[in-house]
Amino acid sequence: MLKKGDLYYPTKEFQKRAIISDPKIYQKALKDPIKFWEKLAKELFWFEKWKKAFEHQPPYFKWFLGGKINITTNIFEENKLGWKKIKNKPAIIWEPEPTGESSKILTYEELFKQVCKFANTLKSLGVKKGDTVGIYLPMIPEAIISMLACARIGAVHTVVFSAFSSQALKIRLQITEAKILITADGYYRRGKIINLKESADEAIKDTKVEKVIVVKRAGNQIPFDESRDFWYHQLIEKESDFCEAEKMDSEDLFFVLFTSGTTGVPKGCMHVCGGYTVQVYWTGKWIFDMHENDILWCTSDLGWITGHSYTCYSPLLNGITTLIFEGAPDWPTPDRWAQIIEKHKVTIFYTAPTAIRMFVKYGEEVIKNYKFETLRLLGSVGEPIDESTWLWYFKNVGKERCPIVDTWWQTETGGILITSLPGIGPFKPAHAGLPFPGIKIDILDEKGNSCKVGEKGNLVILPPFSPGMLRGTYKNPEKYKETYWSQYGDKIYFTSDGAFKDENGLIRIVGRVDDVIKVAGHRICTGELEAAVNLHEEITESAVVGVPDEIKGEVPMVFVVYKGKKRGEEVKNEVINLIRKQIGPIALPKEVYLVEDLPKTRSGKIMRRILKRLFTGEELGDLSTLANPESVENIKKVIGK
Ligand code: PRX
Repeated sequence: MLKKGDLYYPTKEFQKRAIISDPKIYQKALKDPIKFWEKLAKELFWFEKWKKAFEHQPPYFKWFLGGKINITTNIFEENKLGWKKIKNKPAIIWEPEPTGESSKILTYEELFKQVCKFANTLKSLGVKKGDTVGIYLPMIPEAIISMLACARIGAVHTVVFSAFSSQALKIRLQITEAKILITADGYYRRGKIINLKESADEAIKDTKVEKVIVVKRAGNQIPFDESRDFWYHQLIEKESDFCEAEKMDSEDLFFVLFTSGTTGVPKGCMHVCGGYTVQVYWTGKWIFDMHENDILWCTSDLGWITGHSYTCYSPLLNGITTLIFEGAPDWPTPDRWAQIIEKHKVTIFYTAPTAIRMFVKYGEEVIKNYKFETLRLLGSVGEPIDESTWLWYFKNVGKERCPIVDTWWQTETGGILITSLPGIGPFKPAHAGLPFPGIKIDILDEKGNSCKVGEKGNLVILPPFSPGMLRGTYKNPEKYKETYWSQYGDKIYFTSDGAFKDENGLIRIVGRVDDVIKVAGHRICTGELEAAVNLHEEITESAVVGVPDEIKGEVPMVFVVYKGKKRGEEVKNEVINLIRKQIGPIALPKEVYLVEDLPKTRSGKIMRRILKRLFTGEELGDLSTLANPESVENIKKVIGK
């Protein structure tokens, strides 16, 4: 049986069938990464071939300059498997949350027609190439249809996670100046109907949204403003089921996806049409070893980059079936996820460590009758997966037969950049593995020197980067320079992750070195939480730190200095409500502590590190340099340590 520190290689059988099984691919690609990507790009369908493969004007770079492409043409008419072959194959399997409701299947042909109808609808409503469209939908097929319809006509989509609050949606709509929002009446979550339209209505106040398209999903009562709101099903009825694809320039903006920013203002990562398509097609094909009959279940919501790239675009480009699920993996019973895998004969399962830790907690008993015979490959993403969780996943879900691809990447990178390839290996618990062929990665110390084996440093990406990486932060070029290109100069992309290499060159990600915390795989800036908390009138100061949590990986702990007259419990509840309102339930703190003072340096900087260490058990370090060392003793009393 596999143990911590062991290496696992794919079985002969897996290797034999794998799309990539020869390790020589790494040397070949690294000899000339630009040529390598060009060769891959050539296999896709371009209306016009690019004139130049790569251009670097630090900190900006471009790929496939002058090329003309549309991702939907590559998904449908020009799919590499051939339209005839995929036409009647399920493109999407949709599993609703209520167990009494039937699942739905959309074949490629049905999906194509729906996409075209909706693309024509958007055009009829005045949407043009380059316009931004907001998408605030639950996990229903219309979410994918909406994304593809935008892509078809060259509109820029901004998908916002449906569990985000109306405030979080509002700020994204304000930044992008979207005139159209696509939403739904409601959806099911843990047996309850969530009224999404109400949040959408609240969000569009003080934005440029003029029209709201509403998908009827849960049939709940909603406010409906006839002058502005339209039912999706009524709009598409009248439209033709064919829509010509817009010929997009490689470097035209494809979508903007926001990720949390320090001050409460999210950063819009800009992804472009050409490079993104090339990267998600190939990374998906090789990393998930996508074969014609595969059924992939990537559990990520479409509102995250993982949902964009590996729930929607990559499987469809590869002509395989993607499964989407409306609900929570442990609802109504803890084995719901296992039932879904067996019911729909899932072959590739891609999820986050937080979900796996939850399965572990429910116990092996819950899944002892599941054989998972159809599964052949497992994936993990979003946060470091510790050894014992990896081993549990390998044994109980993969039945010691399925390779696990631990995939490292970010909203910014658009696609996976580090992971062992399943047909090559090796896989080592808690290690992501090697950089994807053609990707140049290094781990640097503070001075910019490469770290030795086992030495922890900062993970960076070197030129020519990757075709799918972000091209900027929307309407905020300063942020782009400052966040990614200032640590080691403007030619080295700084990931904000700490990492080290083992003796085989396999990379292990340690975690963020900035103020980002990963709460159940969701990326949240502590500064963003502090900005929300500081809106409270009676709170003079706050500090938020991430502390380890058994299931969620990390959870926020909030410390507030409050000078008001209200009772403590009341303030705590108000803080929680502020976070819920400004960000959403995913960011809720584990605890809110009311304290008299926060530990600070003499120059007034809050020492969050000390607050964190109160929970991790690490040495607090020298407190004598603090301006107010007594604050630490007081805080210890408040938190009961
Ligand atoms: O810290 C890394 C962590 O997630 C961050 C990116 O978060 P986000 O933009 O939300 O994208 C998540 C899904 C791609 C990274 O900077 N992360 C992502 N994958 C891994 C990971 N940490 C460790 N191991 C991974 N496989």
